[in-house]
Amino acid sequence: MTLEKILHSQGFGSRKQCRQLIWNEQVSVAGRLITDADEDLPCDGLIFSVNGKEWTYRQHLYIALHKPPDYECSRKPSHHPGILSLLPQEYLNRNTQPVGRLDHDTTGLLLLSDDGAFIHAQSSPKRHVQKIYEATVFEAVTPQLIAQLQEGVKLIDEDKPIAAQVRMLDTHLLELSIDQGKYHQVKRMLAAAGNHCVSLRRSAIGKLTLDSLGLPMGQWCHLDPGQLAQLV
Ligand code: URA
Repeated sequence: MTLEKILHSQGFGSRKQCRQLIWNEQVSVAGRLITDADEDLPCDGLIFSVNGKEWTYRQHLYIALHKPPDYECSRKPSHHPGILSLLPQEYLNRNTQPVGRLDHDTTGLLLLSDDGAFIHAQSSPKRHVQKIYEATVFEAVTPQLIAQLQEGVKLIDEDKPIAAQVRMLDTHLLELSIDQGKYHQVKRMLAAAGNHCVSLRRSAIGKLTLDSLGLPMGQWCHLDPGQLAQLV
């Protein structure tokens, strides 16, 4: 692919802007300044620098973010900053979007991608991808609460009761696994079972755990093929 097209595909602006970056001697590959916008380069594994900052060519972006509290997943956040503000502008230029949403006060593992097919597949209710949450609850956990959540609770606007796999982690801490992503689902399930969710953290999606990524809050990383394969 020509360098101009590569830069364009990687979110460095319009074709004209990318040409200009190259002509202005702002782009190098393996330490070699390239001033010919039409120079053909192999994309696979390509590492290039723009204004001294290194980038790896990626056909698509598959990102894991450790979402902090008080960030909104919406593209047009209204009360808090948006999680997209935590990513480089170049990735936003590629129309990178969150895969599903977490509430503004929920923390934990959030995926983002610019691959529409991946977003669609991950969000599809047919795939039944397990999402694991750690919920701190107001009232101490009781065997009745666990039984109720496991048997299923009726949520307003839902025809059938919704169940979760539940594990007690501490007196006020529950782990819930669910395979749907209904609006405020965990908080509504806990409320329907007579308790109240004080704080919520998503600890895993499929078999991919936040702990395995070692991401500090607010930080993100690219997912490799092995990690993507764990999202089942
Ligand atoms: N369930 C909720 O209630 N909130 C979230 O952010 C995610 C799941």
